[in-house]
Amino acid sequence: MYFVPIDQKYYRMPEEELVERIWAAKRQLGDRLVILGHHYQRDEVIQFADYTGDSFKLSQLAAGRKEAEFIIFCGVHFMAESADILSADHQKVILPDLKAGCHMADMAELEDVEECWYDLQSVVGDTVVPITYMNSAADLKAFVGENGGAVCTSSNARAVLEWAFAQKERALFFPDEHLGRNVGYTMGIPLEQMVVWDPRKPLGGNTKEQLRNAQIILWKGHCPVHQLFNEKHIHRLREVFPDIKILVHPECKFEVVKNADYVGSTEYIRKTIEQAEPGSKWAIGTELHLVNRLANQHPDKFIISVDPNQCLCTTMNRIDLQHLAWAIENLAQGRVVNQIVVPKEIARWALVALDRMLAIT
Ligand code: 13P
Ligand code: SF4
Repeated sequence: MYFVPIDQKYYRMPEEELVERIWAAKRQLGDRLVILGHHYQRDEVIQFADYTGDSFKLSQLAAGRKEAEFIIFCGVHFMAESADILSADHQKVILPDLKAGCHMADMAELEDVEECWYDLQSVVGDTVVPITYMNSAADLKAFVGENGGAVCTSSNARAVLEWAFAQKERALFFPDEHLGRNVGYTMGIPLEQMVVWDPRKPLGGNTKEQLRNAQIILWKGHCPVHQLFNEKHIHRLREVFPDIKILVHPECKFEVVKNADYVGSTEYIRKTIEQAEPGSKWAIGTELHLVNRLANQHPDKFIISVDPNQCLCTTMNRIDLQHLAWAIENLAQGRVVNQIVVPKEIARWALVALDRMLAIT
């Protein structure tokens, strides 16, 4: 894959023209194209999505829409990679801006995870199942597939961990320490049996005894967006609005999740608000575009962010009208730009890990 820079003329076009051009190209491509949009995308982009969802729903959609020749993924790199792995060989997946990555996914690299894996084996032997969160590069998914593990998302992490514990005593969970800890705790695993593995320290910063005592080894990684929420925000909100309900994403820190009323994936958050009583009050701990969209879609409910400051995912928001217009117009003219292609040998094992997840849930 080589990098093709966006034609700068798209930055000189007014918004109405970009919108018109995207609709025109989409009409021209018809059923040959499906556009998938993650809930964190901007409103002006999400309007073009044929389907929206959380990572799990979008991966199911990518696996199930075999009739479309092209999938434009309005989301981030690891999602487009998973779509490429799960889609059929004749389908092409396009990420409108290749710089739309994920800071959390970047916190675990294959080399470091392999080193951790071998160190762990030397201390606890063959007792560990590797589990990677969807927010990880394809080579990590392949590592997991090859070593008897599975992928999980925020909506099925518990089911996948239960599956892991039915195989072996321990799980190595990466790259999000918070999701692993939050889910492990709801499964009844004491905090002291969930140790953090810091790849910069020998044995991840643990003693052999701590590792032998651990049920989950949590990779030291986090989402910089969800990391911004803290329990003080929640206490302040409850003082001002005694009847407010706190609804957060499981990538938030343990103290935040413990103090929340409801916890779940972006799709769970969307559905919870959709089903909420008119007049009810909600503070949501997740990316701001989704919070603002839900507030606009439900004016009969009071909806605010848990953190009054901006909690934006800058990489998700690299997908803008300009990049979408550029990618879709090229496609309509028979040119595929920004195609995501996972090398075959990586895709083969990553598919094993993704298929295990789809079979578990
Ligand atoms: P969801 O699977 O809940 O949509 O989460 C994806 C994500 O990146 C959240 O930060
Ligand atoms: Fe990654 Fe966090 Fe952005 Fe989700 S919100 S894509 S975890 S950086």
